[in-house]
Amino acid sequence: MVLTDRNMNRLNLPVFRMENKKMKGKYKMKKLLTAIFIGGSMMATAAEAKTLVAYFTLTGNTEKAAKTIAEETEADLYKIELVTPYPAEYKAQTELAKKELAEGTLPPIKPWPENIGEYDVVFVGSPVWWGTMSTPVRTFLASGVLKGKTVIPFVTHGGGGADDSFTDTAKLCEGCHVITDGWSNYSSITMGIGRWAKKSLEKTTK
Ligand SMILES: Cc1cc2nc3c(=O)[nH]c(=O)nc-3n(C[C@H](O)[C@H](O)[C@H](O)COP(=O)(O)O)c2cc1C
Repeated sequence: MVLTDRNMNRLNLPVFRMENKKMKGKYKMKKLLTAIFIGGSMMATAAEAKTLVAYFTLTGNTEKAAKTIAEETEADLYKIELVTPYPAEYKAQTELAKKELAEGTLPPIKPWPENIGEYDVVFVGSPVWWGTMSTPVRTFLASGVLKGKTVIPFVTHGGGGADDSFTDTAKLCEGCHVITDGWSNYSSITMGIGRWAKKSLEKTTK
């Protein structure tokens, strides 16, 4: 918000006039009070950051984690979906993913929510694929739509851990503030995820 005489007057703030000072003194004090008022309301906005949980899943593990985060933080949910779905068979999935990652292919995904610009913080969830974020999530991260937002990654895996998932998130998401202290766990285990999500949100408002 730009401070102008017009919008300052609308705020109807009290005015303190300094002894022996003319209009200049009145104007300065009014501007100072307005800045304090607006600063205070901006801090309140940061504490109530609008939050989205975006995720991709093939077999439901990451979806379970995403839903738990959304519940615990009262965030909205967005399921990332491919335009052309992955094959149903595991071996075919792993081969296709390996090829896409090796070639740097970003498979097209269906449109994200129209109001995505309103979100300040986006949790981004993925299964670990070949030691990194799955290709549909890579498409989302590299799209540029998260520019200027805080991005908090989380992953589920089959025993190999998060590996390069969080550092790759930071590389792919240009202009995003990525919190690389992400959450990861094996398969559908979501133990501690709510506490971690709330703590991560607190970090974004400090
Ligand atoms: C294409 C593909 C690649 C995978 N690569 C890894 C891997 O590198 N490390 C690992 O621990 N698990 C790997 N997994 C297992 C998944 O990360 C794990 O099962 C995950 O929880 C699945 O999440 P989802 O149910 O949300 O799809 C892979 C699975 C698939 C389908």
